[in-house]
Amino acid sequence: MISPTERMIAETDRAIGWMTFNNPAKLNAMSADMWAAIPAIIAHFERDPAIRVVVLKGAGEKAFISGADINRFEERRTSAEAAAQDSANMRAALAALENCTKPIIAMIRGYCLGGGLLVALHCDLRLAADNARLGIPAAKLGIAYTLAGVQKVVDLVGPAFAKEMLYTARQFNAVEAQAMGLINRAVAEGELEAFTRSYCANLAENAPLSIAAAKGVIAELLKPRADMDRAKCDALGTLCMESEDFAEGRRAFAEKRKPQFRGR
Ligand code: COA
Repeated sequence: MISPTERMIAETDRAIGWMTFNNPAKLNAMSADMWAAIPAIIAHFERDPAIRVVVLKGAGEKAFISGADINRFEERRTSAEAAAQDSANMRAALAALENCTKPIIAMIRGYCLGGGLLVALHCDLRLAADNARLGIPAAKLGIAYTLAGVQKVVDLVGPAFAKEMLYTARQFNAVEAQAMGLINRAVAEGELEAFTRSYCANLAENAPLSIAAAKGVIAELLKPRADMDRAKCDALGTLCMESEDFAEGRRAFAEKRKPQFRGR
């Protein structure tokens, strides 16, 4: 049992590790147990060498995640302990997504709001159905999106669209989201899963260490220049250069065949 809560499901299917937010009656609103379950699931996928890519999805047809569980807000407001615990769980969950060396894809259908968008923003790529509705309704609730959350939005869409999202608090459709760079692809709802599987199959054929190096270097580039760990970036490059997979890549090129990468 990887997940201690039924509201988070972890499954593996060949090269894909699927993590499902499973609270469809509340449009997959994130409860405390859901945040808390994420690090162990991601660690499990990280350890499994057969898993090359992780996909996050919401149960049911209506939502990826409708946001943090609003019913919990009153308790958080009145109990410093509950607020601190929830913040710690949320930070650990988001850090697990960000620090996983494997690519993580948010497969978004329907609502992807507030804390749900925060989860999607901590993924590497966002593939969405044409019925996706993305937004940050904080200003409709009277709360502020976190510093880390605003930073992510600004990094992805720039300050002008970030302000539009935060000030209007409205839902953006898939066409608008793609134009802003908030999602990578928008596809017909009925084709989303097949599209995602084929997208993952393509990623799974590529060298895992090269992808991990790209993920690591891009994360460093997004930090302030003074905090950037250049030695880590160099080490990621060296790891690739000295890998069996690089030898396999060169052999496969010479032999005019597809390389078989093993991530070492
Ligand atoms: N937290 C807790 N419960 C939520 C929720 C959330 N973020 N989002 C939806 N739900 C619950 C609703 O209360 C409702 O529960 P009920 O059946 O017990 O009344 C159920 O999920 C279905 O939602 P409903 O509002 O009936 O669906 P809808 O299709 O009419 O509207 C939304 C969908 C997403 C527009 C609407 O639910 C909504 O605005 N949710 C809150 C979004 C939000 O502010 N998220 C940011 C939080 S940080």
